[in-house]
Amino acid sequence: MQLFETIDTMRDKSRAWRRKNKRFGFVPTMGALHEGHLSLVRAAKAQCDVVAASIFVNPTQFGPNEDFSKYPRTFERDCELLENEGVSMLFAPTVEEMYPPRAVTYVTVEGMSEKLCGNSRPGHFRGVTTVVSKLFNIVEPDVAFFGQKDAAQVAIIRRMVRDLNIPVEIVACPIVRETDGLAMSSRNAYLDPQQRKAALVLSRSLKEAQVLYQQGVRDAQPLIDHSKEMFAQQPSARLDYFEIIHPATLEPVEKIISPSLVAVAAYLGTTRLIDNIVLG
Ligand code: PAF
Repeated sequence: MQLFETIDTMRDKSRAWRRKNKRFGFVPTMGALHEGHLSLVRAAKAQCDVVAASIFVNPTQFGPNEDFSKYPRTFERDCELLENEGVSMLFAPTVEEMYPPRAVTYVTVEGMSEKLCGNSRPGHFRGVTTVVSKLFNIVEPDVAFFGQKDAAQVAIIRRMVRDLNIPVEIVACPIVRETDGLAMSSRNAYLDPQQRKAALVLSRSLKEAQVLYQQGVRDAQPLIDHSKEMFAQQPSARLDYFEIIHPATLEPVEKIISPSLVAVAAYLGTTRLIDNIVLG
């Protein structure tokens, strides 16, 4: 695996691959890799001739009181994992390389960036869409792979790519879970044993929504109310949102008559976790 720390060297190399007419896959990450990330790399390997990944903890998607400085950084181990999965190129720039001094240009998907996590983390999705569009401009992949765990991120990136005519296909890969159901996340590392146990309320609330749906409940509100009751009984977890929305527009749905995204976010102490399923 070749490591590139500058935009010019990364771009030269990816263009050289593209000239060979290879289908070029890209897996953007913030490092602290787990099986969820590796499933993206495996999907990329299966669908593409050559795969690049990036590791960049992007400051613009963290709020002033969020965990940018303490976000887990495990670079050596991440490199080993990516190399073992057959990644050919790794782009790992510094913040200074990615953001020139006095950079003031951002990409915002208006009307969507403020929804779900964007509501509780103002500016988060603006940071994501800005860095992803920069990464796409640098790496110029044919296809990019994202985890369905960040379903709102996927919907917003798809919309950005459509609206800005960015020639990158977006593939969303299924959520990878621990054996007890907790969705894998780099932030799970922050949880103490009690919080780790309490965190299961996220996946359980989605499972119960699924059971109610299978029993014939189609109205969104009773599913939302049921999940709120579950969180009320688990005081170690503070519910941020439990919403039922259209998977592409992120607009709330009142009745599940077509595939609908059920998305949940909750705090365990200061750690914020998310999860979702699609019903219908
Ligand atoms: O999902 C992530 O890890 C990040 O939001 C991404 C897409 C790499 C952008 O920084």
